[in-house]
Amino acid sequence: MERRKFIKNTAWGTLALGSLQACADNGVGVPVNVKRGANVLISTWNHGLAANEEAWKVMGEGKSALDAVEAGVRITEADPKVSSVGYGGFPDRDGVVTLDACIMDHKSNAGSVAFLQDIMHPVSVARKVMEDTPHVMLVGEGAREFALNSGFEAQNLLTPEAEKAYKKWLETADYKPVINIENHDTISMLALDAEGNLSGACTTSGAAWKMHGRVGDSPLIGAGLFVDNEVGGAAATGLGEAIIKTAGSAMVVELMRQGKSPQEACEEIVERIHNIYKDLPDLEYLQVGFIALSKSGETGSYCLRPGFNYAVCNETEGNRLIDAGFKMQ
Ligand code: GLY
Repeated sequence: MERRKFIKNTAWGTLALGSLQACADNGVGVPVNVKRGANVLISTWNHGLAANEEAWKVMGEGKSALDAVEAGVRITEADPKVSSVGYGGFPDRDGVVTLDACIMDHKSNAGSVAFLQDIMHPVSVARKVMEDTPHVMLVGEGAREFALNSGFEAQNLLTPEAEKAYKKWLETADYKPVINIENHDTISMLALDAEGNLSGACTTSGAAWKMHGRVGDSPLIGAGLFVDNEVGGAAATGLGEAIIKTAGSAMVVELMRQGKSPQEACEEIVERIHNIYKDLPDLEYLQVGFIALSKSGETGSYCLRPGFNYAVCNETEGNRLIDAGFKMQ
């Protein structure tokens, strides 16, 4: 796709976004009709636009969906302005940046790292785990050692801005994992390539000020991400604990296998999470959102409460940001 077709920071983009928002605000979601064999990308949040742009370039070079999702989310991991992923991610309550990521391909190969420190690109370490070890998941010091032995460099991931925010947080040390448009929590990306193969990746620094050692949904295959090349893929964002306890992404894909569209599947899992947690006194702090991509290139997304957006990129409509439909105010 030519660069100029990307809808970003332009009057054109604003117009397109406006009409898409109107559609999504009705809870309708935005299905995308594409021909088989066409590349499609979907990613969480507004940082998904830049990630999609890179991933699209990679698929344009004839590379696979797997290469595309890795390259795409690496953009977010390296962006110091994104405070919930990779370099610049907010630390835990001990002031330590710890990262979680996973990746899954069209052959159901999967790799994952959790509680990883000092490495800017956990998604690439996850891919190495997938390709170079007999395992799926490495955590903590073992993951770090594996990364260093695989040629990754150790570096300080705590930016001055993140350290400043941490010191501010220490003044009250009040822990409320708010997840919204200013304070989102992950990048997940799903891709369908020209061969008709699906892959996905998910990467995060997790909830800001979390307990040291806490791991969310993002590195867990089936929770933060799931890909079934016969059916489709799904990925999550939001409060990891709620997503883990419902096997969120695997459930979305399973619902698609049973015949639901990506949109219907996302809505059903959010409904299920709402039913479980609706009586919680601190429900206002719960946000979960899902993106899904079917084998035929149809996309879907839904979240619990307003504030989740996602980026979709395909040949016919370019790269654009969409507000997800939601269950409740
Ligand atoms: N969804 C990211 C996390 O809970 O860590």
